Amino acid sequence: MVLLRLSAAISAAFALQSYAALVPRAGYVVHEKRDVIPPKWSYTRRLESDAVLPMRFGLRQRNIEHLEDMLMEVSHPDSPNYSNHWSPEKVADTFAPSVETIDAVVSWLKASAIAPERIKLSSSRSWIHLNATAAEAEYLLDASYDVYTHEDSGAEHVSCISYSLPHHLKEHVDLVTPTLHFDVRVPMPAKRNVRRDVDVGPTEGSGRSVGQPGIGSLPKTTGKVSEILTELENCDEQITLPCLRALYNIIYKPVSTNQNTFAIVEYTPQAFLQTDLDMFFGNFSPSQVGQSPKLVSIDGGVAQTTNRSFNFNGESNLDLQYGMSIVNPQPVTLYQTGDLVEGGSFNNMLDALDASYCTFEGGDDPTQDGIYPDTLPGGFDKPESCGIVKPANIISTSYSMVESQITPFYAIRECNEYGKLGLMGVTIVYSSGDEGVSGHNDLCLNPDGSQSSNGTRFNPLFPSVCPFVTSVGATQILNGSSVNDPESACEEVIFSGGGFSNVFKRPSYQDEAVNSFLTNHPPPFTSAQFNTSGSRGFPDLAANGARYVVAVDGEFSLVFGTSCAAPVVASILTLVNDARIAIGKRPIGFVNPTIYSEQFKGAFNDITIGDNPGCGTNGFSAVPGWDPVTGLGTPNFPKLLARWLLLP
Ligand SMILES: *[C@@H]1O[C@H](CO)[C@@H](O)[C@H](O)[C@H]1NC(C)=O
Ligand SMILES: *[C@@H]1O[C@H](CO)[C@@H](O)[C@H](O)[C@H]1NC(C)=O
Ligand SMILES: *[C@@H]1O[C@H](CO)[C@@H](O)[C@H](O)[C@H]1NC(C)=O
Ligand SMILES: *[C@@H]1O[C@H](CO)[C@@H](O)[C@H](O)[C@H]1NC(C)=O
Ligand SMILES: *[C@@H]1O[C@H](CO)[C@@H](O)[C@H](O)[C@H]1NC(C)=O
Ligand SMILES: *[C@@H]1O[C@H](CO)[C@@H](O)[C@H](O)[C@H]1NC(C)=O
Repeated sequence: MVLLRLSAAISAAFALQSYAALVPRAGYVVHEKRDVIPPKWSYTRRLESDAVLPMRFGLRQRNIEHLEDMLMEVSHPDSPNYSNHWSPEKVADTFAPSVETIDAVVSWLKASAIAPERIKLSSSRSWIHLNATAAEAEYLLDASYDVYTHEDSGAEHVSCISYSLPHHLKEHVDLVTPTLHFDVRVPMPAKRNVRRDVDVGPTEGSGRSVGQPGIGSLPKTTGKVSEILTELENCDEQITLPCLRALYNIIYKPVSTNQNTFAIVEYTPQAFLQTDLDMFFGNFSPSQVGQSPKLVSIDGGVAQTTNRSFNFNGESNLDLQYGMSIVNPQPVTLYQTGDLVEGGSFNNMLDALDASYCTFEGGDDPTQDGIYPDTLPGGFDKPESCGIVKPANIISTSYSMVESQITPFYAIRECNEYGKLGLMGVTIVYSSGDEGVSGHNDLCLNPDGSQSSNGTRFNPLFPSVCPFVTSVGATQILNGSSVNDPESACEEVIFSGGGFSNVFKRPSYQDEAVNSFLTNHPPPFTSAQFNTSGSRGFPDLAANGARYVVAVDGEFSLVFGTSCAAPVVASILTLVNDARIAIGKRPIGFVNPTIYSEQFKGAFNDITIGDNPGCGTNGFSAVPGWDPVTGLGTPNFPKLLARWLLLP
């Protein structure tokens, strides 16, 4: 095989593609390959053949292909096992890799002249660990390892462009690291005096950047409120608690507060201020002055008070002020995730809820997730928070990432964990994003999958695209309308995030609703704008997201975003759980199969006005029935409650 000399115009990625990868060895099949090197990394040299790679073989989870069916069995209102949720032990056992899978990989390694004592099985039995030289790894995987350098930090990473496995292992192995994921920190041979890998910090697009000011999913403000208006006729100008109660008929005082649980997730450095909570409570819910959320610190998470501005305090104050007051007297737990140095990701939060997830399919990804202990100065130097808290019945998160910026593997792994939490009876609520059909910072997709400000393909958000979470869009009261008039999709300051995944198939529970939308109200777009081949549509529901009065840094601000809508929906669902628990029933768990079902027709205020513009288009339109702008509509609490009380 001859390596062709390629012109400089051809990307480095292709120029460097190993010839071995192009033609796999006899009996081998390509397992994973990448088309482009991530931004800011460039090829430096071939990896030295005696460098030691900490190889991990992520074993295929048993039964993972049945996850959706298993989840439907406990979540669909027609199922005889509705709400018959699983214990964490049953979940862990059901998905642990099979003995045959473990044997297949171990036998192959032994047959490849790897001494048995070098092969180790993780305690979760979900991956096999082997320290191999680069020469051994290249032989085992029919791959070629190179060293890449980061433009800003000078950090080095080891990666290959493609790797292969023997045909018979394809069904037993999910992934092998370190390979092309551009993630694992590989120690370099010291004798060559090469620079040790250093952390490049949370950059936009990495999971642990979600709490950083300026990241697309945080709420927006138009400034201070000079005079608070609490009369219902002013709800088109300012949303306060009485407006939300009137809009969604929230008339209920929790009684099961010792048994029920509700958590709100925040990512450091986002933080609430007690003085702001008290200022809000003083005006709207006086009995709560002095109340705080119960803070669960995940991976060194702190409610910092050093940096104060709307960009640091807006999200947390908003979520907690409205969440805590709607469910009062139900205590609210705060999952404060990530330390001040490295930050945390959705996966760091999930690790804290389910110890088995910490090592599931290879564990966290250092380019996305905080890796603890954090070795950087001032970092959280204790072990990663694994299974430190029993998941709350409802977990609300108003942060998002761009689906196109993470690998499908990463997205699917995390999405499956939401499904497993659903099996355990946990409801996962996420905001759908504030930029209509665009991704963060109004970026859209180019035909090759990269993002730019003049891309024309819609750019959906994760985890809303995961079929196992409940995604919440935003509405608004039109100027001059009252709380009794129909709301519109939010078109002031923000646009409700919505659209179709490029990774996840459409789940059965929304087949009918989405088909009805596409058939009866065909959008004026083609597969050039969105995935028309039957993928997951979002959001699932909506709630008001415009003109919230929120106490931030000692003053009331007017706040906009699906960040407002998610905690309101999560709070309403918490009230439903309270009423069910009060009559001896179990929590509602994963709600999507229920809310899309025949039994729940008419339990939402259908939104039929407004669009979600982006990517140079008007976006989708809110129409009768489900739509990728406001989902099924906004909650009508008494109707939802009555129907949920009828279910087992
Ligand atoms: C309901 O759950 C029980 C216990 O997990 C199981 O034995 C039974 O088969 C399930 N029923 C149905 C209809 O799936
Ligand atoms: C690989 O090497 C590291 C560092 O020496 C060691 O901590 C680890 O236990 C080794 N793993 C295996 C599977 O031998
Ligand atoms: C946050 O506060 C620290 C300490 O005062 C300061 O160094 C840093 O620049 C602040 N960050 C921002 C974004 O203001
Ligand atoms: C947008 O398109 C123009 C011309 O089509 C191109 O020159 C420019 O680089 C593009 N901008 C971005 C941010 O991709
Ligand atoms: C609402 O409409 C009135 C009359 O058209 C206008 O004066 C007012 O500025 C509008 N208010 C907002 C908040 O847009
Ligand atoms: C469309 O979505 C499906 C999942 O339903 C996915 O397999 C496919 O690759 C996506 N197509 C594009 C062009 O992104």
